[in-house]
Amino acid sequence: MEVIRDAGEILAEGDAVRAGGRSIGFVPTMGFFHDGHLSLMRRARAERDVVLVSIFVNPLQFGPAEDLDSYPRDLDRDLALADREGVDLVFAPDVDEMFPNGRPEVTVDPGPIADRLEGAARLGHFRGVCTVLARLFHLVGPSRAYFGEKDAQQLAVVRAMVRDLGFPVEVQGCPIVREPDGLAMSSRNSYLSREERVAARSLSEALRLAADAARDGETDASKVESIMRTRVDAEPLAALDYAAIVDDASFEDVAELDRPARALVAATVGKPRLIDNALLPVRENAGEEGR
Ligand code: PAJ
Repeated sequence: MEVIRDAGEILAEGDAVRAGGRSIGFVPTMGFFHDGHLSLMRRARAERDVVLVSIFVNPLQFGPAEDLDSYPRDLDRDLALADREGVDLVFAPDVDEMFPNGRPEVTVDPGPIADRLEGAARLGHFRGVCTVLARLFHLVGPSRAYFGEKDAQQLAVVRAMVRDLGFPVEVQGCPIVREPDGLAMSSRNSYLSREERVAARSLSEALRLAADAARDGETDASKVESIMRTRVDAEPLAALDYAAIVDDASFEDVAELDRPARALVAATVGKPRLIDNALLPVRENAGEEGR
């Protein structure tokens, strides 16, 4: 496995791979790997000739009061784990290498999906994500890029960017990897104390209760949202930010569960702000009653 820190070098590597007729599978990350990250690498390994992983804690996507400085980092451990997954190339630039002129003047407007939920809670977050990904896609030149459904809104925003700006890359969403008790894996879980770790289960449990309600025939989205809210509110250590149900494509609110809808929760548990989501089951005859 080769580790590259230089933008010019990664560009040349990508050119050489494509000139040799080989495809690049790209996994963009901010490092501090867990099984969620590794699952994306495995998928890329199975589907593409060359697997390229980037590790870059992107300052553009952190707000001024957020955890940029304390974001967990362990490059040596990450490199060992990536090597074990059969990754070919790691691009691990420092900030000056990615943004040699400081904060970029030209940025990517992430569009309407980014106005809500995570975008409303973290102003400028998705602009920062899209801007760094546009730069990385140009440097790497992948034919397919892999993203986790853990960040479902990010995935929707990236799909919209790739579609509207015509990046020649296929975006592949991958399932959420969870701890045995249901907690979605996240680099930020490392901030949790033992008590907070127990309280953090309430997010995935709220989603499970939402899915159960939908399966049992509840079609009123506001009722399902309130089931989620009640579960998270039952944990004194968890402060709910939102519990929402949105159309899975547009990320707009839905009133009725009569089409593919996604339930999302965000809560602060101790230090970290955690997010999770799940696609809700659609009943066969939903939306047809009374017709
Ligand atoms: P990061 O949080 O490091 O996540 C990198 C990728 O891993 C993202 O696509 C994310 O959705 C995926 N991922 C994280 N936890 C996961 C889990 N439990 N199961 C499955 N996939 C999971 O997301 C970012 O970095 C950044 O915003 C980035 C796209 C790299 C741009 O800076």
